[in-house]
Amino acid sequence: MGTARQGWLEAAARHHRRLPLLAPLATMAVLFLLLLWLAPGAVPGGSLGIAALLQARASSSGYRSTAAAELLPSLVRRGEQLALERRWGVQPILQPQQGWGPPGIKIPRILHHVYFPNISSFAAAAANPASSFREELPQSCRALHPGWQYVFWDWEAATQLVGTYYPEHLDMFRKLDSTIKRADAIRYFIMHAIGGLYLDLDIECFQPVDRWLADYDVVLQDPGPTNGVVASVPGHRLWLKVLALMRERWQENPYREVVELTGPGLMSSTFKFNLGPDGPQERLDQPDPWSGEHAIDGSRVMVYPSQHYFHPCEWDDPGCHKELAMQRALGAANLTRFAGYHRFAASWQDGGGAGALTADKLKQQLCSGG
Ligand SMILES: *[C@@H]1O[C@H](CO)[C@@H](O)[C@H](O)[C@H]1NC(C)=O
Ligand SMILES: *[C@@H]1O[C@H](CO)[C@@H](O)[C@H](O)[C@H]1NC(C)=O
Repeated sequence: MGTARQGWLEAAARHHRRLPLLAPLATMAVLFLLLLWLAPGAVPGGSLGIAALLQARASSSGYRSTAAAELLPSLVRRGEQLALERRWGVQPILQPQQGWGPPGIKIPRILHHVYFPNISSFAAAAANPASSFREELPQSCRALHPGWQYVFWDWEAATQLVGTYYPEHLDMFRKLDSTIKRADAIRYFIMHAIGGLYLDLDIECFQPVDRWLADYDVVLQDPGPTNGVVASVPGHRLWLKVLALMRERWQENPYREVVELTGPGLMSSTFKFNLGPDGPQERLDQPDPWSGEHAIDGSRVMVYPSQHYFHPCEWDDPGCHKELAMQRALGAANLTRFAGYHRFAASWQDGGGAGALTADKLKQQLCSGG
């Protein structure tokens, strides 16, 4: 009896020693659960109310984006993305109000990159010397826009966006028969749902893009307009038109080639045929027929001409890319009038495009007299 009682007392004492630690923990857990319950949709970790803030900010500037309010906070906090940003030496930006930029600026300050299926597979591709992808390129863009929200879209996030906000297009999105087509398509959904700046992963940045975005509603790049660099306010009609035309073409022929089904050909046809009399007028006398400012529904759409913005060289001009690579190697390139450099390492061309020329490849070519 005495031993049993002693045993019980000892157990109670042991339990009691743990209590001072357990009690506050339990109280905190209860409070935390209560907070979560009071704030549905909130994300744990000090960002309670981000969704509400984003929503308020979006509404006050006249651009409502439910997807930005609901999806963005969880996307910018994903483990793989945070690890990538740490590897790039960029601290993630979690203050939502910074995501929308200074007052008067309409295009939200959110930078989007896309690679399917995921960040790890991008890192693996970039580490392969035979590939034209390199982590430094997107890293330069992320680092030059430190006050911006940043989202790296993998396949899971992409299907979450389409499935939640565009369920009628999910079947098409999933069935697109190449990764390039799916990566093409998602940027239109992102621009419509969230807005911001989308950049291909073979784009290097030289300076912050803000002065080129100014207070336009949509900013594009000729020729094409290309879909490698697109910036927009959320909810712009242009993107619904692009998606509707893509769907029409997909229903006619799901195997149609990439440029016309999901790429720049689709963009150009939307400009040409699908925006109605209020749409941009093609300037046939110009080498870049869409370049200049256009009005769509009273919004301001800017298309920068070739040899401006992100295009020091065009995709079909290997000589230009080679000369630029050489000038840069000699430190003699004047890049001050460009926001960045789209290299066209595009995988839709065998072996990458003309700009896939890296310093190593240039050296090889020069040494072999190529
Ligand atoms: C990323 O995708 C690759 C290739 O499909 C897969 O092997 C890997 O497990 C994925 N990684 C993560 C973190 O999901
Ligand atoms: C670089 O180009 C800009 C305009 O394109 C010009 O104003 C500037 O003087 C140039 N700088 C040099 C060092 O040539």
